[in-house]
Amino acid sequence: MNKKTIKIRNQFLEFFRKKKHKIIQGSSLIPKNDTSILFTNAGMNQFKNIFLGQDKSYQYSKIATAQYCLRTGGKHNDLENVGYSNYHHTFFEMLGNFSFGSYFKKKAILYSWELLTSKKWFSLPKENFLITVYETDEETYDIWANIIGIPPDRIVLIGNKTENSDISDNFWQMGDTGPCGPCTEIFYNLKNNKCNKQIKNFRKKINDFIEIWNIVFMQFNRINDGSLVKLPNPSVDTGMGLERISAIMHNVSSNYEIDIFQILINDIAKISNTTDLKNKSLYVIADHIRASYFMIVENILPSNENRGYVLRRIIRRAIRHGYLLGVKNIFLYKLVSSVNKSMNINNSYLLNKKEYIENILKKEEIQFRSTLNHGLKLLHSKIKKTINHTLDSEITFYLYDTFGFPFDLTKEICREHNINVDRLSFEKHMEKQKNRSREKKIFNQNYIMMHNTENISIFIGYNTYKTESIIKNIIKNKTSEQFISSGEQGILLLNKTPFYPESGGQIGDIGIIYNNEGKFKVKNTEKNGNMILHFGIVEKGILHIEQKVFSEIDEQYRFDIQKNHSATHLLNSALHKTLGDHVYQNGSLVTADWIRFDFFHNMPIPLKKIQEIEKLINKNISKNILITTKIINFKNIKEKNIIFLSHKKYEKHVRVVSIDHYSNELCKGTHTERTGDIGFFKITSVRKIASNTYRIEAKTGKNALHLIHSQEKKVLEICSNLKTNPNNLKKTLEKIIIKQKNLEKDISKLKEKNITNIIAKLNKNKIKIKNIILLINTLQDQDPKTLRNIMDILKNKFKKAIIILANLINNKVTLIVGVTNNLHELIQANDLIKIILKKINGKGGGKPDIAEGGSTYIHKLPEALTEIKSWIYSII
Ligand code: SER
Repeated sequence: MNKKTIKIRNQFLEFFRKKKHKIIQGSSLIPKNDTSILFTNAGMNQFKNIFLGQDKSYQYSKIATAQYCLRTGGKHNDLENVGYSNYHHTFFEMLGNFSFGSYFKKKAILYSWELLTSKKWFSLPKENFLITVYETDEETYDIWANIIGIPPDRIVLIGNKTENSDISDNFWQMGDTGPCGPCTEIFYNLKNNKCNKQIKNFRKKINDFIEIWNIVFMQFNRINDGSLVKLPNPSVDTGMGLERISAIMHNVSSNYEIDIFQILINDIAKISNTTDLKNKSLYVIADHIRASYFMIVENILPSNENRGYVLRRIIRRAIRHGYLLGVKNIFLYKLVSSVNKSMNINNSYLLNKKEYIENILKKEEIQFRSTLNHGLKLLHSKIKKTINHTLDSEITFYLYDTFGFPFDLTKEICREHNINVDRLSFEKHMEKQKNRSREKKIFNQNYIMMHNTENISIFIGYNTYKTESIIKNIIKNKTSEQFISSGEQGILLLNKTPFYPESGGQIGDIGIIYNNEGKFKVKNTEKNGNMILHFGIVEKGILHIEQKVFSEIDEQYRFDIQKNHSATHLLNSALHKTLGDHVYQNGSLVTADWIRFDFFHNMPIPLKKIQEIEKLINKNISKNILITTKIINFKNIKEKNIIFLSHKKYEKHVRVVSIDHYSNELCKGTHTERTGDIGFFKITSVRKIASNTYRIEAKTGKNALHLIHSQEKKVLEICSNLKTNPNNLKKTLEKIIIKQKNLEKDISKLKEKNITNIIAKLNKNKIKIKNIILLINTLQDQDPKTLRNIMDILKNKFKKAIIILANLINNKVTLIVGVTNNLHELIQANDLIKIILKKINGKGGGKPDIAEGGSTYIHKLPEALTEIKSWIYSII
């Protein structure tokens, strides 16, 4: 890779190192403790307080840096120039040397001249330069003319823009306030033409000359009222765009032709199948991907505010240029590795951020692409209809608000068609919208908008399953928005809806809300005050506020819920009839799959009663009773023996759902037409969930049938395993249980016998030292319980003993060590096992009287046991 540009940066820094400057790192793109600028826009930003004399602790008076800069707003904004100028960038690197009260005009100019022209350094031909000087700065003029020797016709004096101001191209200031001063700028004649003697109007020939180095003599601080205050130490701040000096050194007529840009441009051309490498869109994307990359590195995220909005504007402009190049799919993220390559990035922090940067770009591009096409179509149709060369500001605002078109994107597209856009009117629309949002559309965590009449949604879904509605509100991330597009989750509010919102135990409907432009899948419906909130995701296209849509519930899902809801009413009345009138509903859940019904009751419900309840409900189902609803005055409900929840607050007029005389309940939910629609009812579980509270779970219709089928299948599988049939299953199981019990008895007898045999054997192997019994032995294939039993018996039997039993089982050894209480002063089981385990690489532990452990290193066991034996001997 050609690293010419990077070499130039290094040479610059090296030159100033040699001139006794301290080389330090550029600062972050986000200025620290400085709200006067949004982004670092010059090398001097990080030294602002030193120039102002506010930071006196600084230990160096001569510094040089290479500083990443962003010029995307405020006093220094090059965003609009990118794509139109060969030398401007949103993001670039500024090489600079600084003097804080050390050298001043003469040395600063001599340094720059030496670096640019000396054969040892950049070696550029002296006759190609042109210098501008602030009109009244005689000292600087004198240095250029008489010390350096620039012919007077190539020194141009630049004055103030108006008579009464000190605003001039040769008076530099960082922002509206802050350090500033007159400057001298070094221009270079790129075309290598002989300089025109009558060069006074050279700015008209700006394409022939390129400004490469600005030397600012920091002498003032501009304060809030616009006046200038003298700085304590006259200082120097210089800035040279790396990309520009590189273009000159590369001998090319555009920054975009230098090595670092060519890497990017070639990659973008490949992705977009573009053959013309001078295509303006390639330049825009190459510039913008660098800016986006370094902004995201600083943890800025695309958003609608502050720095995030600058990032969004840049990304979206790049996306639109990708679109112009015919790139069909998201592509910006693919250029992250190109930036790494072109900038020769080898810093692991940045390399590790690659995936993060890619993901941010992906997300933003997916989001913008979903609206870009619609927005462009609209804009082009409006451009065609524009007669007075100015776009209606409402369109600019609509494009911003609905399709996410930043103002400057619309402006750029209009500029391509020779149409103006009016920023002032656009800003007025923005202001109005901000006020509207402030007043009514910010939702808090709980979507508290209960009493906002604009958001009342009428439920029309008792008998209607599909209707035409209007979208009245769209909520994304708890904020009201104008549109929602493909892949986005959110909440829609409609003027009327067939979707039942979760309430009274009945869960919310699912379904779709759609029109020709988009489709929103409703995953759940909830209620909040007067609003019905449709929660879901846009599956395709885009939906806008105030748009007509069809809202259509999933009918099958609703029918299943209705069956369960009507069955819940039958269950409630059946419980009253079978268990007594003390039964009192204490919560319920009605879903499409099952019913949960909690109620007050004070004693267990035997199977007989449960079956009685099921029978009664199924009887009422088979009667196919008509289910009716009517609205009555709440005052009358007591007389009419209607079930209601006494703790609940009801409105003045209430809805009663009646199943003939069997059930009358206050309920807003949806129900089947007749009980026969329920099909079949089956209780799946009954249990006590709190004191005096029972819970019944049940299923209806096909769900109940599925349950019975799966239970039947299980029974048949058991029968087949037991080689019997359902009729004989009970008898067969009883026989098996008896057999099992007998077997357990036999096993226990055998175990006892086994233990007796082992003890007899072990007894023979015991050793007596003084009056202490020592028993160390290895057994085979014993279970832990048996080992513990053996240990207990032996300890009881020997009274004063140390017993170590190893047991080989499944290529492992398990150990049990026992020491009778009367020996603990001398020796303890947990110490003994530690010693053995260490030898055999095992794990375990215990107490003074008993310890256990194990290991897989069985080959070491005999040695370990021999050693422990000697150790015990040595102790006793
Ligand atoms: N601050 C000046 C500029 O940005 C010189 O560094 O041009």
